[in-house]
Amino acid sequence: MKELIDKLYRNNNLSKEELIYIIENIDEESKEYLIEKANETRHKYYSNKVFLRGLIEFTNYCKNDCYYCGIRKSNSNIERYRLSLQEIMDCCELGYNLGYRTYVLQGGEDGYFTDDRIVQMIKAIKNKYTDCAITLSVGEKSYESYKKYYEAGADRYLLRHETADEEHYSKLHPKELSFSNRKKCLYDLKEIGFQIGAGFMVGSPYQTSENLANDLLFLKELNPHMVGNGPFIPQKDTQFNKKKQGTLESSIIMTALTRLLLPKALIPVTTALGTIHPLGREMGLKAGANVVMPNLSPRDVREKYLLYDNKICTGDEAAECRFCIQNRIENAGFKIDLSRGDNIEWRRL
Ligand code: 5AD
Ligand code: FES
Repeated sequence: MKELIDKLYRNNNLSKEELIYIIENIDEESKEYLIEKANETRHKYYSNKVFLRGLIEFTNYCKNDCYYCGIRKSNSNIERYRLSLQEIMDCCELGYNLGYRTYVLQGGEDGYFTDDRIVQMIKAIKNKYTDCAITLSVGEKSYESYKKYYEAGADRYLLRHETADEEHYSKLHPKELSFSNRKKCLYDLKEIGFQIGAGFMVGSPYQTSENLANDLLFLKELNPHMVGNGPFIPQKDTQFNKKKQGTLESSIIMTALTRLLLPKALIPVTTALGTIHPLGREMGLKAGANVVMPNLSPRDVREKYLLYDNKICTGDEAAECRFCIQNRIENAGFKIDLSRGDNIEWRRL
């Protein structure tokens, strides 16, 4: 096991069989070793810096019906909301004053937000905050739409691939959605020039060790600038409400393996990881992650953006999250970095 981890550390690559072997056989001692090597790797490129991004969840309307997700369209148990452009601008102003220089605009696939409205939003933010980066996360769109967003000034795009196995994908999503289209979107985004983020849920229903190895190898092949993995957490209004939650241990191992496969990636610790364990995010940082995305959404909409049960931080003001996170990062031995925090290999075309 130690030899395999050393090989991964040296080459930043392993075969599918080797990854499966690690996933299925890692013990406590080798896990510590894996985490140590992942941490060493993040230090090599990013020292002990942790980048902060302000997350604005601007709509919880969604036309999709992903089986795991709390804001899926057939969930009639939640109150839907959309932020107005003015409300989004207010979030940005608050975020700017708290020191954020990246805004992550995330939402369901909401038809109200046409390309024109999204472009208008990007331009409004970019005109006012010329030193800030915009990360969009609004799902699957056409090449042309993505291009418009990029030309309007968006810098980054998050679109988790969720699972890189077509068959597993179809167990988590209705038939209108496919891994092949997801993959096409990611390659389109990359070609256009975005810094892209992919990622998968750890411990999602029906997932096998081979699926996880394929997820990691898909990331290696795609070579995204950012990778967000998080544990699956059941949501009470979905058909997966009785399924088992992803484990802390497995999530941490996936973070460390991701860091070793993609040494220069920006890797956030997710809110889902903080939800399954009070120190989950700190453990993620120690296993090689280097980004945290505290919530900037207005407090009255936060509990409506519940992708899964028991989500943390829904009762806190943006400023509370900002300083809570800073404390946590510093207590874990890292330093916050409030710059835009672009991937070290990216430049706008
Ligand atoms: N548990 C964990 N993560 C979830 N997501 C959606 N629903 C859940 C859930 N029940 C994740 C998906 C999506 C991201 C925005 O949130 O991976 O890409
Ligand atoms: Fe939100 Fe801690 S990060 S309260």
